[in-house]
Amino acid sequence: MSAKIVRAITRMSVAAGIVLAASCAQEEAPVQQDPNVESAPAQQEPAARQPAEAASTAQQESDQDLLARGDYLMNGIVGCGNCHSPRNVETGEFIEGMELAGAFVIEEPGFTAYAPNITPDEATGIGSWSDEDIERAVRQGIRPDGSVMGPPMAYPFYRDISDRDMRAIIAYLRSVPAVSNEVPASTYNIPLPPNWGPPVEGPVPEPSRDDQIEYGRYLTHTLGHCTDCHTPLVEGRHDFSRIGAGGNLFPMPFGYPWSALAANITQHPELGIGQWTDEEIKRAITQGISRDGRELLPFMGFSFYENITAEDLDAIVAYVKTLPPATAAPPQEH
Ligand code: HEC
Ligand code: HEC
Repeated sequence: MSAKIVRAITRMSVAAGIVLAASCAQEEAPVQQDPNVESAPAQQEPAARQPAEAASTAQQESDQDLLARGDYLMNGIVGCGNCHSPRNVETGEFIEGMELAGAFVIEEPGFTAYAPNITPDEATGIGSWSDEDIERAVRQGIRPDGSVMGPPMAYPFYRDISDRDMRAIIAYLRSVPAVSNEVPASTYNIPLPPNWGPPVEGPVPEPSRDDQIEYGRYLTHTLGHCTDCHTPLVEGRHDFSRIGAGGNLFPMPFGYPWSALAANITQHPELGIGQWTDEEIKRAITQGISRDGRELLPFMGFSFYENITAEDLDAIVAYVKTLPPATAAPPQEH
């Protein structure tokens, strides 16, 4: 079954593939932490932790809120299923009953990466993993046995997921049906980095929603890793001095018979989205329609992003509009 779903991708561009591989084998520039976030609680989400004296019913409600938050994130801006849920590449539809059961494969000379089954199935999924195991895998790319995971999962972006959102994502992962689906192990012939950054220590606070741009950055950069796909790679490293300038080529993602070139989403007036209205930007994100009406290739997770709330979408657009005009020159012939 998985062989059918998890299609091998024939490489279209050797060079682009190497860049994609290498892009992940690097340390990301440290992300600045807003000093204000620690003291600022989320405004809309109820607190995840109840006081010790809280009645058990209150605790249950809290768990429900946490799961609701996880559902919102996982079927929205975070969209792990864009890689981890198998889809029919003929129709583009996700396969029913297979949510998060493993899918994405990218085959390169440097590696063959499969997005594993992350449903609670004990034998073929992550049912036996502890919360800490899952958290370490997502934020730091470290398996329970201590080995380092490979690309292309966005570990250096996910490391700043707040503790509460991390718990919400884990709550959601535990709630989906266990699916038995054996996914082959990834193989990496390229050297993997010794780690994806320093250990995540201490609490990772909720971002403040008072500062719309900082909150938008959390959504866009950390949770959505939009800037992972959309920032040019130079010798395998994100060039954040040109954040959002696009130009990365993704050869035949998910087994689709085409390659996707990441668009320039900076404020560049011609090459980027500097002249787009907010509504046009939102339509591109949530419906996959470009300014001129062209349907965008279904590579970024429109079907997830369509569930983003108006408030969050406003913050994403506010943040995206701070990306200074830049170009991804030279165009991606790596
Ligand atoms: C760009 C595609 C992609 C996205 C997006 C992605 N992953 Fe992954 N994930 C992978 C790949 C590929 C691996 C396997 C890496 C390896 O084998 O070294 C992986 C591995 C994992 C593992 C380890 C599972 C195992 O059995 O080893 C977990 C847990 C996981 N991902 C959870 C998540 C969660 C949660 C999210 C969303 C926050 C997410 N992933 C987003 C591609 C992705
Ligand atoms: C998995 C990689 C990936 C991720 C993650 C991603 N994008 Fe994209 N995005 C692309 C690609 C590739 C295109 C171009 C598709 C095409 O040309 O058909 C694109 C197109 C766009 C466009 C349309 C630009 C134009 O000129 O038509 C906008 C706007 C955009 N992305 C914003 C975002 C935002 C905001 C996020 C996060 C919420 C995001 N993207 C996440 C890969 C990605």
